Amino acid sequence: MARVDTKLSSTAPPTTVPSTERRRVDLRKAINAVSDVVQNRPRPLRIFDQIHMKTGDMVLQSEMIADWADGKRLAFIGDGDAISVCVAYLRAREVLNFGPLHITVFDFDERTVEAVKNFADRERIANLDARLYNVLDPMEPDKLFDCFYTNPPWGASNNGESVNVFVERGMEATGHVGEGVVVIADDDELEWPKRVLASVQGFAARHGFYVSRMQRKLHEYHLDDAPDLKSCNLYLTALPGNRAAAPSAAITDTLRLENFYGLSQRPTVRYVRAKRRLDYGVAHEDEYELELLSHDRE
Ligand SMILES: C[S@@+](CC[C@H](N)C(=O)[O-])C[C@H]1O[C@@H](n2cnc3c(N)ncnc32)[C@H](O)[C@@H]1O
Repeated sequence: MARVDTKLSSTAPPTTVPSTERRRVDLRKAINAVSDVVQNRPRPLRIFDQIHMKTGDMVLQSEMIADWADGKRLAFIGDGDAISVCVAYLRAREVLNFGPLHITVFDFDERTVEAVKNFADRERIANLDARLYNVLDPMEPDKLFDCFYTNPPWGASNNGESVNVFVERGMEATGHVGEGVVVIADDDELEWPKRVLASVQGFAARHGFYVSRMQRKLHEYHLDDAPDLKSCNLYLTALPGNRAAAPSAAITDTLRLENFYGLSQRPTVRYVRAKRRLDYGVAHEDEYELELLSHDRE
């Protein structure tokens, strides 16, 4: 398929024939739609490696993922960035004339799950939903997905094992026969991202997947201690006839869970619970107080 030159991004050609001819993307509409999503996104919890992708990169990433998953059932294994919502919303708003058939987000943060559901409800996006789920629990979807997407904790302190846990759940969500996009660190100057990339590629190969494509150094993050650190899209595809070696099971192996969210940060939390429903786009009462003009004090 020759890619139309009107696309937002300039990526390598996709491997599947698109269901529709790609229409020119209105950049202003695309950015404003992603801005609506960012307004609705819960603030990141750094202790769980929630670090948000920058907005410009979200626009490009959403278009690429909508293209890759066109007409498919897509599972997000964790999605603090809200790429899932952008992908669904760009399609619903007709900014894109292609995109996944259905999207489900699996995340252990109830704030994220509620934000996705509330947005889908408000914007009447019927093909977007979310489920509270911890990756340490077995993955048992009601129906199998065609593909998965994950931007996991990047595994800087455990040689990528936390990435592998999220990837494993993604593979299970597709019944080990689909495709996945893994968003992980990509930096030529640092050692650990190279080790993580090698570890994830090895893990994929041991589970009957191969690296079908890699888009290098694509995204930047709101990461104050490493503002230049970028991530790549690593595409994994199942080998023909691939099968699960065993049914999905809880992950309890303490060695696998060491340094999961960074040095000495093993998982101890099943769910992050939302205390109250917040409108993330406006200032909260506990952020400020009002000092009145003198005539209004009397
Ligand atoms: C760890 S962050 C990685 C950074 C990424 N840019 C983001 O903020 O989404 C990815 C997502 O994984 C979720 N997550 C973290 N630990 C999880 C767990 N044990 N089970 C399920 N989801 C988890 C987070 O809530 C977040 O939404």
